[in-house]
Amino acid sequence: MTMTGDLLRDGTDRLRAAGSESPRLDAELLLGYAVGVERTTIVANHDAPVGLEAAQRYAAYLDRRAAGEPVAYIRGVKEFHGLALAVDARALIPRPETEALVDAALAEVMRRLTAPGRVPGAHPVRIADIGTGSGAIAIALVVALRRKRAAGEVMVIATDVSPDALDLARENAVGHAVADHARFLEADLLPPVVVDPFDLVLANLPYVRSDAMPELPVATSFEPPLALDGGADGLAVIERLLARLPEVLTDGGVALLEIGSDQGVAIVELAERVLPGWPCAVEPDLAGLPRVARLTRPAVVAGTDGDGPSSSGRA
Ligand SMILES: C[S@@+](CC[C@H](N)C(=O)[O-])C[C@H]1O[C@@H](n2cnc3c(N)ncnc32)[C@H](O)[C@@H]1O
Repeated sequence: MTMTGDLLRDGTDRLRAAGSESPRLDAELLLGYAVGVERTTIVANHDAPVGLEAAQRYAAYLDRRAAGEPVAYIRGVKEFHGLALAVDARALIPRPETEALVDAALAEVMRRLTAPGRVPGAHPVRIADIGTGSGAIAIALVVALRRKRAAGEVMVIATDVSPDALDLARENAVGHAVADHARFLEADLLPPVVVDPFDLVLANLPYVRSDAMPELPVATSFEPPLALDGGADGLAVIERLLARLPEVLTDGGVALLEIGSDQGVAIVELAERVLPGWPCAVEPDLAGLPRVARLTRPAVVAGTDGDGPSSSGRA
């Protein structure tokens, strides 16, 4: 009979030799998955014996990890914003830095719901999550709003060009009991015609420069390239979304876009070019790096356009 501590030590050595940046943590997670217990149980029970079948499963998981496959895909789950999301090769593994975008969106929704002029029962806050992938942003936001008893006050659509990713997102929405609050649509960014504009557009679109794709860690080669490749300057997909914002955002509406940590200046310049007159601020993530670009559609002041209270021409 092999002991937990021995398997952990051997697995850690193997993954370190294979180039993992977190060999001990990976081994703990994979052994816990093989045995069917939490990682903390593994860490606390080095003297516990491990059965033959579990040890064989662990060996197979180590093989996959040593070949570069991310632990999240092997275990089929990734924690994001306090939720356990199902993940597999159909969609990008949600990253911790994207939690900053969820937090910014949550604050923006609550600001709107608690605004002094808001009438009880007023129209819901309309939110779009563009490039939803596993559904991480839309689902984490609705779950957070549900905890504040505010999920019923929003209407969320989430889009992706990948039907496979959308299937995964729908599974996650059902798994977290938010399927009634979010609709998942296949679209290139957004449906061709948006009849009711959004108060809030959220997007974590691909933003890696095409020529930097080969330099990404090997684990990312298991993820869909469509989720990562942002074109020649990394901002090609985001630029197309910016061009659609005047048509799909309400007056005073806000777009929150995840960007790469080296794109803070570039996104401001892009916004000035594509959306002149729209304020664009860049907010940091928990590591203090530029991460979320906030673009605001200037609200039209009543009477300034000679055509009533709104210049948008929309209902
Ligand atoms: C970086 S991943 C983000 C996934 C998820 N929002 C997250 O934060 O984990 C980008 C996602 O955008 C999707 N995508 C790429 N181009 C798109 C487009 N033109 N329209 C809609 N979605 C797109 C990809 O399929 C992928 O799921």
